[in-house]
Amino acid sequence: MGLFNLPPIWMAPMAGEASSATLVAAVSAGGGFGQLGAAYLAPARITEIAADIRARTDQPFGINLFCPQPWQPDDAGLDAYLARLAVWHAELGLPAPTRPAQFEEDFEAQLAATIAAKPAAISFVMGDPGAARVAALQDLGFTVLGTATQVSEGLALQASGVDAVIAQGYEGGGHRGGFLGTPEGALIGTMALVPQLVDALDIPVIAAGGIADARGVAAAQALGASAVTVGTAFLLVDECPLSPAYRAALLAARDADSTLTRAFSGRLARGVANRVTRELEGLVLPAFPQPNAASRPMRQAAAKAGQADFISLWAGQALPLSRKPGSAAELVAALTRGWTA
Ligand SMILES: Cc1cc2nc3c(=O)[nH]c(=O)nc-3n(C[C@H](O)[C@H](O)[C@H](O)COP(=O)(O)O)c2cc1C
Repeated sequence: MGLFNLPPIWMAPMAGEASSATLVAAVSAGGGFGQLGAAYLAPARITEIAADIRARTDQPFGINLFCPQPWQPDDAGLDAYLARLAVWHAELGLPAPTRPAQFEEDFEAQLAATIAAKPAAISFVMGDPGAARVAALQDLGFTVLGTATQVSEGLALQASGVDAVIAQGYEGGGHRGGFLGTPEGALIGTMALVPQLVDALDIPVIAAGGIADARGVAAAQALGASAVTVGTAFLLVDECPLSPAYRAALLAARDADSTLTRAFSGRLARGVANRVTRELEGLVLPAFPQPNAASRPMRQAAAKAGQADFISLWAGQALPLSRKPGSAAELVAALTRGWTA
């Protein structure tokens, strides 16, 4: 056991198709620290999934939420985006897209459900939860984690009192988790970011981004990380309930197919390029979460229809390293060998 009495290998929280009790429990039962990406879950689902994880394992797990981000409604921008989606809706045989009735879940209600679920750690991304909230959660006994993509964010999170900072390097899959300046202004690779955060902070740093095998784990340890968090590689383990089209696209992609895009959500994220990322390249979109909510029906229908061109194929640059078949426990064991070597 290591940091906070947790194993050194953590599975990154992954909101969306991968946020399943089966996967989180398989990681924790398999000797890693599984984390549930709860950002898109209704509070009642957080409660249900956490209970399901508990029923499957008595090992600790974490829950992750997106910090609430202020955004301006942009009806004209949203309508322009819906017009682009309409073409793909037609290809998928879906009715024309409409303005979503709800854009995001209620953060306070999600947090209340998260607290009631009693995970070992609560992690935040895309923001600084602030000193008052961090202290309140710590008083309740939680380990509180924040996510930084640059040193200034790590310092802000440390000032708010978090127990540790996750350093999210440029290589990583999914949304960029930073919150100061623009995401494009903080595209720092894991190799450069982790040691700079380790030097700047007095609290532990957990490395994320591009770590997919024992070599990456050993490298992160050499850079001073106190644990590692791995996302993309866990997408391809047996217990991950990825749709067949998403899985097939990940299995076929090359390193150079990885791209940063706002096309699906309005917020910069890394995934495998497809028609949506290519055809919307350069288009100015309304702020997150408006496109995220608007594109959800298309993404879900595309996953069912086996159409990877219309799915947000979030994955990191180390994707081709992640393709060893096997279970979550086998991947945890392989990664742990890099930590203990
Ligand atoms: C499919 C997917 C979904 C993700 N969702 C979240 C999320 O909900 N919250 C979060 O903090 N990070 C999320 N991330 C980012 C991960 O926490 C982590 O930074 C990243 O996966 C590490 O890089 P790697 O993918 O190269 O392992 C996601 C990543 C992926 C691939």
